This record gives sequence, structure tokens and C-alpha cells, in this order.
Amino acid sequence: MCGSRSAGRLLLLYGLFLAWPPIECLTMFLPSADNMTVTIKHSSLSPAKPPCTICTPKEGCKASTLQILPGQNVSYNFSCSTPEKYFVMEIHKSIDCTSGPCPFGAVGLQPLGLPSLNRTFSWHVKAMRNIGLELSFNPWLRQIEPNDTCPDLATFNVSTCLGPKPSNIGTFCRNGSVSRVKVQGGVLVALQLPWNENPLQSGFTIANRSSIKRLVIIESTFKTQSSAVLLSANYPLGFPEDELMTWQFVVPHNHRASIHFINHTSPNCEKKEERVEYYLPGSHSNPEVFKLVETQPANIAGNFNMSLQSCDLDDQIPGALNLQFRITVQLSPQEGNALLVDLSKERGLTVRIKRRPQTFRQFVPECLICKGHTDCEEEVTLTWGNTYQLSFLCDNLAKLMVTAEKVIACWSPACNIKNRPLTMPAILLHLPIRLHEFVWKLIALDDISAEIISGSLKLQQQWFQGPICNSSYHYDINSASHEHNFALGAFCPGGAIERIQMRDNVTIVLRPTPTANLSATFKNHLRVSFIPVIKEECIFSVTPNTSSTVYLQTPNWDIGLPDYVSFSWNIVVPPKQEANLAFLKDRMDIVCETGRAYVNIKEQKMQGEEIIRRDDQPLPEPKSFYNSFWVNISNCKSMANSNKLKVQFTVTLTQRRTDPKTILIAAVAGGVGLLTAVIIGVTMCCVKKKKKENKNAMIGVYNANINTQMPGQKVVFNKGRHKNESHIYAVIDDNMVYGHLLDESSNGVMTPAIGVYQPFQGHMENAPPVPSPSFLLQRMKEENFVDPLSSSMRDNELYTFAQRKPEEPISSGDSGIHLLEHHNQEDITDSSKG
Ligand SMILES: *[C@@H]1O[C@H](CO)[C@@H](O)[C@H](O)[C@H]1NC(C)=O
Ligand SMILES: *[C@@H]1O[C@H](CO)[C@@H](O)[C@H](O)[C@H]1NC(C)=O
Ligand SMILES: *[C@@H]1O[C@H](CO)[C@@H](O)[C@H](O)[C@H]1NC(C)=O
Ligand SMILES: *[C@@H]1O[C@H](CO)[C@@H](O)[C@H](O)[C@H]1NC(C)=O
Ligand SMILES: *[C@@H]1O[C@H](CO)[C@@H](O)[C@H](O)[C@H]1NC(C)=O
Ligand SMILES: *[C@@H]1O[C@H](CO)[C@@H](O)[C@H](O)[C@H]1NC(C)=O
Ligand SMILES: *[C@@H]1O[C@H](CO)[C@@H](O)[C@H](O)[C@H]1NC(C)=O
Ligand SMILES: *[C@@H]1O[C@H](CO)[C@@H](O)[C@H](O)[C@H]1NC(C)=O
Ligand SMILES: *[C@@H]1O[C@H](CO)[C@@H](O)[C@H](O)[C@H]1NC(C)=O
Ligand SMILES: *[C@@H]1O[C@H](CO)[C@@H](O)[C@H](O)[C@H]1NC(C)=O
Ligand SMILES: *[C@@H]1O[C@H](CO)[C@@H](O)[C@H](O)[C@H]1NC(C)=O
Ligand SMILES: *[C@@H]1O[C@H](CO)[C@@H](O)[C@H](O)[C@H]1NC(C)=O
Repeated sequence: MCGSRSAGRLLLLYGLFLAWPPIECLTMFLPSADNMTVTIKHSSLSPAKPPCTICTPKEGCKASTLQILPGQNVSYNFSCSTPEKYFVMEIHKSIDCTSGPCPFGAVGLQPLGLPSLNRTFSWHVKAMRNIGLELSFNPWLRQIEPNDTCPDLATFNVSTCLGPKPSNIGTFCRNGSVSRVKVQGGVLVALQLPWNENPLQSGFTIANRSSIKRLVIIESTFKTQSSAVLLSANYPLGFPEDELMTWQFVVPHNHRASIHFINHTSPNCEKKEERVEYYLPGSHSNPEVFKLVETQPANIAGNFNMSLQSCDLDDQIPGALNLQFRITVQLSPQEGNALLVDLSKERGLTVRIKRRPQTFRQFVPECLICKGHTDCEEEVTLTWGNTYQLSFLCDNLAKLMVTAEKVIACWSPACNIKNRPLTMPAILLHLPIRLHEFVWKLIALDDISAEIISGSLKLQQQWFQGPICNSSYHYDINSASHEHNFALGAFCPGGAIERIQMRDNVTIVLRPTPTANLSATFKNHLRVSFIPVIKEECIFSVTPNTSSTVYLQTPNWDIGLPDYVSFSWNIVVPPKQEANLAFLKDRMDIVCETGRAYVNIKEQKMQGEEIIRRDDQPLPEPKSFYNSFWVNISNCKSMANSNKLKVQFTVTLTQRRTDPKTILIAAVAGGVGLLTAVIIGVTMCCVKKKKKENKNAMIGVYNANINTQMPGQKVVFNKGRHKNESHIYAVIDDNMVYGHLLDESSNGVMTPAIGVYQPFQGHMENAPPVPSPSFLLQRMKEENFVDPLSSSMRDNELYTFAQRKPEEPISSGDSGIHLLEHHNQEDITDSSKG
């Protein structure tokens, strides 16, 4: 169809006559010396019957494939003007080095004048099995997974011909760190180019070398900070059995390299074991052998090599050895960033240094912490009792953060932990790495509670939508027990809370603000003690400053209070002062499923006023107090879909304005005078008396100073530390109160002392307010009793008060009572040791 000029003219005539388009010809001549074969064929991607064919003078326009062999001179053309849409081309060159000299050197992209089609050049170099062949690339290559594509669509494939069939060594794009590939006994190199690119040079040269004694050596050269991902040969189909492969790394002066294994799969070895071996500069133990699962070396200064050795596979279930790893090369860290961290005396302390959560960019320098020369990791854990020499392979230490945890444990009532300052080891304050958080864990047996005292600075509770802590750090305090965990809240220095007593295990988390300079601002002002167990989850002691407002809220603010918990606030009102208590909302705004929720306010004085509000009643109006008072909030079990209990209140302290006499009268008029007795001291529980009721039927377990230990079979009331106490025991109640403390062995049989309480004339600050019992009790004794608080009382149900013998008097206002103080037995858990 096409041919010489004259033939062309002839065709032109035919064409005019038959409306047959004239076809001009292309020629391709392949000298036999080049030993090259060109195949043009329909692409596997083109449609089944492509609207384009190959035209040759001999056969016309019908061929879909054209093969041109060495020595042939062929004229051809395509029947369409866009053959690149339908045709691809393969140019295969065979280079035989086994017989005669090899044409080494730069590999050109012959022949010239190829049509513009997607094309694959392949060079098949045959060599003696013991001859090494070195391929040098320019530009250097970047390895990709075999099914990946390169951004410029130019892809290199390197395969070895040693085995029965060529096995893939790697697939590469231009533009990377792989400078040379050395193979042995022959190689197959394929270069795929898109139709619109017609370079003259392949970009690599071939040279012969002596035997490399392994499957392949890949040389990766770095000129500057960068990283590269490399793969084992024949990835992901499996590295050949019993083979050896080496990577040589050229690391520039003043830089460090780190190896990180991204992913690997392990074969089933019948003999030997897969492993990697390093020759590291300056190491006295070369080769250093690592398992694939181990942390690989980092902080390597200078050129080094790494070899992968496979094993003899199990024929039955061979598995496959595959390795994908990253080498990161970065500037040497500044000199002098070595750091001595001495934790030999920091009992119970665990320090973690790790990378902050990061966002990925093009090149991510490693940020590693080194405990030894090349023993570097992204995260290290330092435990007390040890001394560490740390250095950092990190361009910016701001990427790292420190967290620390100190355990203070009390495993017996004899542990002598009292007023112990919550210190921060100086080394942590002066680290070049920012402290993210410092956690003190106070753990103790169930019958021991913890007390946090903030003497000098006092604590401010971070208030929801209220004043914000402006200090450079705050404490998150949490409570943990078998039943529930809750967050007490965030507290910062500079407030009114002097003491927090917490029944269960406590974590105190110090969190600095991101810009805090803790070494300048951290004031070591918290102290902890272990004390006999308290009944409430928590008791706060609050001493407001004159002319200031204290903002307080129930713990676990975000979620609301857990079921059946009780908290007390002891608000200290100094003489000649007046405190105004105001609740933010006018209702508790919850629906109880079991039990009742109470807010109870009680003045700490003889015949002091007591205000009790239940969940179905409005919260008290703002009110002034001239004496210290208790605020107690106890929760019920709220309905599943109901709001959770959340209460906020403020206490504002001002100089007293009113005459105390007036107050007394006001108080009496307010109905407090109905009380002929005052509930105090040792505490009680108010229980809805209804036998065989579920133990959850407790009405807000109440009171502070009850020992919640499982009571013994024989419970005797002793008079405790308050002399002259006398009790009248009215009712013996069942498991209602302590049922939750019964263990199997006791069979649920026990006899807690139930007391109808007699007035006690004494120091009152010790006892948080008892819910309503005193109030209710007095009312019950009266005729025509109608409980103003409880509709359920109309059912004539009895209320009883259960009282437990306090085994050990609880800490009083001066926090002077602590667990046995004379023994010196402190237990520290060291869970993180090892
Ligand atoms: C054939 O080859 C020539 C280049 O020699 C080209 O100009 C022409 O368009 C090609 N195709 C056809 C259908 O003639
Ligand atoms: C190949 O053939 C064309 C025409 O068919 C001719 O012009 C050309 O010279 C030949 N090339 C060689 C190297 O023989
Ligand atoms: C040529 O290569 C490009 C890129 O890989 C591809 O999208 C296109 O389909 C190929 N053309 C043919 C005819 O295979
Ligand atoms: C050319 O290729 C053939 C077959 O691939 C091979 O047998 C022959 O040795 C090669 N010749 C040269 C000079 O490479
Ligand atoms: C390549 O293959 C791997 C599995 O071997 C697969 O996870 C990945 O998505 C593939 N990538 C592409 C571009 O097909
Ligand atoms: C390169 O190797 C991969 C995997 O062995 C194969 O799928 C691909 O077709 C090869 N490409 C070329 C151009 O040989
Ligand atoms: C090579 O990489 C550099 C930087 O990553 C980029 O700027 C350049 O365009 C790349 N060149 C090619 C040919 O991909
Ligand atoms: C490389 O080949 C040349 C000639 O083909 C030979 O003289 C030389 O010894 C070979 N070098 C090695 C290292 O095999
Ligand atoms: C690691 O390899 C396994 C098995 O080949 C694969 O399932 C997993 O997705 C890979 N993970 C990553 C992060 O590449
Ligand atoms: C690896 O490095 C060591 C020490 O530099 C050298 O003796 C050895 O030949 C190297 N091996 C390879 C395969 O590069
Ligand atoms: C925090 O705020 C209080 C007043 O709101 C102020 O007196 C105190 O100096 C502030 N502290 C800091 C560290 O800014
Ligand atoms: C506190 O923690 C210790 C140790 O984990 C545990 O034995 C104890 O029961 C916990 N106390 C409470 C109240 O959960």
C-alpha cells in the first residue's frame, strides 16, 4: 500500500479514482549486528477491533502486528492518524556476553525514527554465572511497588536471569536515590516510555564486574536530607529461597541514616533463619545481626550496608519473605544534645519520651531518641532506678514530648504517707523537651482514702463557662474505683479549695499550657496523705477569700454525676464575714429511677439551719450564712434517658452586715427551730425501710464518717472520738445500707447498728451534713407527720438511720489524723519496670 515515491504517486492516482486515501510510508531498518527485534502490535488496552491497522506494501492495510527482525528493512504505515491510541511497540535487544566481548557502556535507545507509540525497550544481557554486571543509572531511581506507576510514566524493571525464569528485582521510576544495581549472571532491564517521549538515551550504562556472590546489590546514594523506601527482590511474591541481597548506602558527611522496617512477611524456614546483617561504621561487632521484628539501627554516621538473608523454605507451606523499609538520611543533630537522665532515686517514676502526633509531608526527618549509639527509637520509656544517657536524632526537639507518671501507693494502713509533697523531678523541668503531662497516681487499698492539700496557693476549680484558669498549668483530678471512674474536674492554683479528700484511687494530672515555662512557674504546692476511708466520693474544703466569689460545680461536669454518688463541700466562713450561697439553676433537672437525689445545706453550729432539697423540688434561693456550712449533693440512679445531675453554685464572701441576733430569729422563723436536735459527728444513713428491696433502693447513701468496710457480724458502737456521745438505737435495718458491701462468706447476714441519733454537742466541722435524717426523724416523731419532702412518705414508710461504728476516727478539719504514722512502710508499684 505504501512504498517508494513513485509507488506513492501511483497510489495517489488510485486514490483519486477509488477515493482511497493515500498512504505514505515509514521505513525501519534493523542492522543484524544490533541483534534487535521490534514488534508493533495492538495494545491490550485498545478495543477488541481497533479502527486502525498496519499497512505494508505487500499485504495492504490489514495487519494488527508487525515484527521486524534483525537485518530487515521494512516499509509500513498506519491506516489512521493516531496509531498511539491503538498500538504499542516492543524493542527487544539481546546482548550475549557469553561468546565474545560485550558492548558495554551507555545504552542507547535505538533504532532512531521509531513511530510515536507507547514502547517498552528491553535489554537481555546474557553473561556467565560468575560475572557481575553493574547497571549505573543517571538520573538515579526511586523504587516503587511493581503494580505502581511513575508520575512521568517512564518505568524501569530490573530482573535477574539466574533462576529458571527471570525474577523481578525491582520496579523503579526516574528521580530517586538508587544509583547502581549489581547483578550476576545476566540481567533483563526493561524501560517503559510513553508515546510522546522520545529520548535518545536510556539513562543507564552496563559494565562487567567480578562476582558479587549474591543475588543483587542495590546502591542507594544520598546527597542531602531525604528518605527512600526500598523493597526486597521479587516483592511481594517472595524473596528467593536461600538467597542473599545487599543494600549499600552512601550517606553524606555530617548526616545520619536510620533504617525503619515498614512491613515484612516471614517465610516458613526449614533450615536457617531469615535475618538482616549490617556493616556499620565504627561498630566493633560487625556484622550486626538483627531479626526482622527488631528495631533496626538508626543514627548511623557514614556509609554502611545491610544484607537480607533468606532461609531454606519448608516445601509444604513455604510462606514468603518480603521486606519493605525506609531509610531516612538527615543532618546530624547538633553537638551536645546528649543528656544524662538520672532516675536512680525517683521511686515510682516512669518517664516516656515520644513523638507528638504528626502530619506527613514530603520528607519527614526521623525524630528519634537514642539510648545507645545506634539504638534509637521513636518512643522510649525510662524507669526509676536507672540512669540514662540520651541523645536525640531529631531536627526539632519540639516534635517530641515527655509524659511522666509517678505511683504513690499505700498497701496497708501502716503506710506512712502523710503530707507528702507532689514534687516534680528537676530533670523533667529542665529537659529540652516539653513536658506534656505529669501524672501522680495515688493508689491504695479499698479502706484507705486519699487527701490532697493545697496549702499555700489553694485551688480554683475550672468552671464550665466561668472564669478560666490563667496559670501556666492546671491539674486534672480523676477518681477511679471498681464501680465508676469520674473526672473531678480541672483545678489550677490560686483559688479557695484547700483540701480535697477522695475515697477511691486518684490520678492527678498536671498539664502545662503549650507555652508554659514550668521551670519558672511550677510551684510545688500540693501535698498528699492517705487517710482512713471516707464515705462520700469526695469532700472539698473551701475557704473563700474575703470579697471574692468562689465558683464550684459538681464533678464529672461534661457527663454529669454517676449514679449514687455523694459529694460534700465544707465552706469555711471566717468570723465577721458573711457568705452568700447561690445556685445557678433553680432545679436539679433530673428524673430518678431509684432513690432520690438531695442537695443538703447545713450550718456548722448548734441548732444550725439545715436546708434539704430533693430532686423534685426547687433548689434553694440565694442565701447568706454567718457560720461555716456544709453543702452536700447526693445522686440517685437517674433514668437512662434523663439528664445527669449537674449542679453549679457560687459562694461570695463579704464583710458581715447584719446583726447576728436578727439572723437567729430569722433562722427560727425559717423553721429550723423545729429541730430540737442536731445531727452531727458520726454519721448515718437515711434509708427507705422496705425489706427485700433491691439494694439499689438506697436513698442516696449519705454521710461522711462512716466506715464503708464490710461490717463485722457483731457491731458495737463505741463512742468514737467524740466523748459524751450517746445513742438511742431505734431500728435494726437489713442489708439496705451495707448490702453492697456484703461478700459471699457473710451470706448476707449481718446486723449493722441502726441508730436513732441523739443530739451531740460538739465540734461540728467533722461531719458533712447527713441528708435529711435529723429533720425527718424529728418530724416523724411528731403527730400528723407529713413529710414535706417526700411524697413516698405518705405511704407511711418508715425511715431509719443506720450507723456504723467508725473503726478509726476520720481526719478532722486540721487533717491531723492519718493512717498509723509510726510504721515506715511504703509500697510503690513499679509496674513499668523492665
Ligand atoms: C504515514 O507516514 C507519514 C510519515 O512518513 C505520515 O505523514 C502519514 O500521515 C502516515 N499515515 C498515513 C495514513 O499516510
Ligand atoms: C530501506 O528501504 C528503503 C526503501 O525501501 C530504502 O530507501 C533504504 O535505503 C533502505 N535502507 C537500508 C539501510 O537498506
Ligand atoms: C500508553 O500509555 C498510557 C500511560 O500508561 C496509557 O494510558 C495508554 O492507554 C497507553 N496506550 C496504549 C495504546 O496502550
Ligand atoms: C543475538 O541474539 C541471539 C538470540 O537472542 C543470540 O543467540 C546471539 O548470540 C545474539 N548475538 C549477539 C551478537 O549478541
Ligand atoms: C499494589 O498491590 C498491593 C498489594 O500487593 C495493593 O495493596 C496496592 O493497592 C496495589 N497498588 C496499585 C496501584 O494497584
Ligand atoms: C515489570 O515487572 C512487573 C512485575 O514483575 C510486571 O508486571 C511488568 O509488566 C514489568 N514491566 C515491564 C515493562 O517489563
Ligand atoms: C524529581 O524530584 C524533584 C523533587 O522531588 C522534582 O522537583 C522533579 O520534578 C522530579 N523530576 C522528575 C523527572 O520527576
Ligand atoms: C570485563 O570485560 C572485559 C572485556 O570484555 C574483560 O577484559 C574484563 O576482565 C572484564 N572484567 C571483569 C571484572 O570481569
Ligand atoms: C503489610 O503486609 C501485609 C501482608 O502483606 C499487608 O496485609 C499489610 O497491609 C501491610 N501493611 C502495610 C502498612 O503496608
Ligand atoms: C559491606 O560493608 C563492609 C564494611 O564496609 C564491607 O567489608 C563489605 O564488603 C560490604 N559488603 C557489601 C556487599 O557491600
Ligand atoms: C490570673 O488572673 C488573675 C486575675 O484574674 C491575676 O491576678 C493573675 O495575676 C493572673 N495570673 C497570671 C499568671 O496571669
Ligand atoms: C485502687 O487500686 C488498687 C490497685 O490497682 C486496687 O487494688 C484497689 O482496689 C483500688 N481501689 C479502689 C477503690 O478501686
